[in-house]
Amino acid sequence: MSVQRFVSNSSRETIAIGGEIAQQLSPPMLLFLRGDLGAGKTTLVKGIAQALDAADPDEVTSPTFTLVHEYDGRTPVDSRITIDGKERDVKLYHIDLYRIEDERQLETIGLEELATQQAILLVEWGEKFPSVAKRSDGEILIEHAGGDTRNITLTLKEKGTGS
Ligand SMILES: Nc1ncnc2c1ncn2[C@@H]1O[C@H](COP(=O)(O)OP(=O)(O)OP(=O)(O)O)[C@@H](O)[C@H]1O
Ligand SMILES: [Mg+2]
Repeated sequence: MSVQRFVSNSSRETIAIGGEIAQQLSPPMLLFLRGDLGAGKTTLVKGIAQALDAADPDEVTSPTFTLVHEYDGRTPVDSRITIDGKERDVKLYHIDLYRIEDERQLETIGLEELATQQAILLVEWGEKFPSVAKRSDGEILIEHAGGDTRNITLTLKEKGTGS
């Protein structure tokens, strides 16, 4: 398991940290995105989407009511996830399961279909569902730390070990 900690003092910094985190994401991947109301989850996704050339920060909004937001991007050229020096297409999904009440409703989202080889899924409230938790490759946790300060922790499981 790898754990990385970041400290942000503004939404601009959180967007930059999202960019750094994006360099370490390689599809297929499902990560939980956790943090209290207004912690900066959507703000962090703005940075990830921008770094993956998937959306401008302004275009990234909360999937609270829409449940799933999809962005088309590509792996960053300078990233270690680049395969054979080439860019790869990436689908970035920002998903909010807060309003999903049970496994039956969860099926209407079709996570199985979204989780392709090219997909990076950032899932809010995924920990509610054992079936989603079991698929998780780690999490990004954002915590309020007074004023505009946020502690951001990226935890990645070793791929394939489930640990
Ligand atoms: N260091 C920071 N990082 C991120 N956002 C910050 C920071 N400091 C202040 N903010 C403000 O906090 C708010 C974070 O909003 P954002 O929508 O990203 O949070 P969220 O975790 O997605 O909230 P919600 O649970 O309501 O969806 C914004 O208004 C932003 O300007
Ligand atoms: Mg949000």
